[in-house]
Amino acid sequence: MADRDSALRLDLGNKPGLIADADQRGVVYLVGAGPGNPELLTLRALYLMQKADVVLYDRLVGPEILALVRSDAQQFDVGKARDNHAYTQARINQLLVEHARAGKRVLRLKGGDPLVFGRGGEEIEALIAAGIPFQIVPGITAATGCAAYAGIPLTHRGMAHACVFLTGHFADGEDHVDWKALARPGQTLVFYMGVYHLEKICGRLLEHGMSAQTPAAVVQEGTLPGQRVVAAPLGLLARSAIDRAKPGIVIIGETVKLSPYFRSSGQLDARQAGRPASPPAEAAPVEDLASASAHFCSGEAREGHWEACADQRLRG
Ligand SMILES: C[S@@+](CC[C@H](N)C(=O)[O-])C[C@H]1O[C@@H](n2cnc3c(N)ncnc32)[C@H](O)[C@@H]1O
Repeated sequence: MADRDSALRLDLGNKPGLIADADQRGVVYLVGAGPGNPELLTLRALYLMQKADVVLYDRLVGPEILALVRSDAQQFDVGKARDNHAYTQARINQLLVEHARAGKRVLRLKGGDPLVFGRGGEEIEALIAAGIPFQIVPGITAATGCAAYAGIPLTHRGMAHACVFLTGHFADGEDHVDWKALARPGQTLVFYMGVYHLEKICGRLLEHGMSAQTPAAVVQEGTLPGQRVVAAPLGLLARSAIDRAKPGIVIIGETVKLSPYFRSSGQLDARQAGRPASPPAEAAPVEDLASASAHFCSGEAREGHWEACADQRLRG
């Protein structure tokens, strides 16, 4: 274990304002661990993982990342699954305060970025109220990580001039979302926690005038070896073969159709010579949604990927 720790130690000097400043005690570091792939951790995150005495981590922080935490650190799995909150937010806040007051370097390790749908703000409020010093370390958020690994540009000249991050949990309570504005073309919508409410999300956008042909995708286990990208026109996405038990991110907008073309070289299907020769054309129009069958497109990039989705649907 000691070898593992020393192998990971970073020699980045002791420059003010850079990362070698974690000798302070009684402090909480709110750190983003990125979307799951350990190679997407920041140097700062890795450094603090090596320094922390106590680590409180979330459900989406996987074993590959936890293996990089200092081996003798005290670890708490405080992850909250839907309808299973073994550790309430109040209890997590309390643990952060208690361990910092005991003079520990406390690492609060969160999936993605701590301040993007991560409840990091509530923890900061609790730390401020208790007079505990803290630092915030950003991470690659699921939207940008998953989009990059799926070959989907979130903005693209002439196609998407804006990108909106939303939570799919709106349906759990009062719905204050301006669906009319979201249904307008020229933007990419990214729904975190969107798989559970996929029907409602797609339905609302269609009701408010978004074209049923708008390219859309669900990315699950994004950036990890098991990444799956299910792409379909918006009108059919909710009927596609998506694993409803796994969290995923829902991306809706014209740029989704670039996915097979923009997929990183290392992710191209080995059976194919390479990426499509040109960006995929528009998806075929959906004329009769009621009779169109649901379909599935794997995460593998292959020639004519988007058209293949449309063809499969029309044949079905
Ligand atoms: C509670 S939010 C936390 C978001 C996190 N703070 C971030 O910045 O990415 C959890 C949601 O993020 C999305 N998510 C996180 N990691 C993901 C991944 N590797 N692949 C797909 N979706 C992911 C899913 O929508 C999941 O339900």
